[in-house]
Amino acid sequence: MLKRGAAKVYVTARKPAPSDDPRILPVPLDVTDPEAVPALAAQARDVSIVINNAGALFPSPLLEADMADVVATFDTNVFSALRVARGFAPILAANGGGALIDMHSILSWGAGAAAYGASKAALWSITNSLRVELAPQGTQVVGVHLGSADTDMVRHAADEGGTVRPGRRAHRGHRALTPV
Ligand SMILES: NC(=O)c1ccc[n+]([C@@H]2O[C@H](COP(=O)([O-])OP(=O)(O)OC[C@H]3O[C@@H](n4cnc5c(N)ncnc54)[C@H](OP(=O)(O)O)[C@@H]3O)[C@@H](O)[C@H]2O)c1
Repeated sequence: MLKRGAAKVYVTARKPAPSDDPRILPVPLDVTDPEAVPALAAQARDVSIVINNAGALFPSPLLEADMADVVATFDTNVFSALRVARGFAPILAANGGGALIDMHSILSWGAGAAAYGASKAALWSITNSLRVELAPQGTQVVGVHLGSADTDMVRHAADEGGTVRPGRRAHRGHRALTPV
């Protein structure tokens, strides 16, 4: 974003890393917190591009997974993305339309990706409807069907041990869900 000329980038995570770059504003945000997203929107009123990047992956098969993990997957990957879209749609409108970018996955359309794939399929559908709903205000809505990228999520691919709980990083078993 900075290389493309962004004047300011709000970087969110539950515990964002500090930055020496004055153009980067790290802001703590838990996207599953219904009050935190409107609070951030009230603070970041100059935003013209919103990227829904936060994602969680609990790899257990649908019939065996702890239902709490399935719910947590949808809370992070689906409902929180919609929460962010709702919170920032008026700001994007006020700033000329801008863009909303949702991070889907190649697993949006593939079988065998359990709750993660189902959640990305749901997000894909939400993106498509938001594209229609936000067209009148001139907001470009884009979905990114990412293949495989070398990130923490993938680096933990071989980590098959332990129990992943909501609120902790949810990477375990990505290898089993990666179709490439
Ligand atoms: N890597 C791939 O091959 C691949 C393929 C297809 C799609 N994707 C998608 O790309 C996006 C980025 O994933 P990644 O591969 O870069 O994995 P990652 O390194 O694990 O990044 C996931 C990000 O989501 C944030 N996050 C998770 N839960 C959150 C919450 N409740 N509140 C706020 N932030 C939260 C994490 O921040 P904290 O945990 O620090 O809060 C982290 O910054 C995800 O949507 C993922 O599904 C990745």
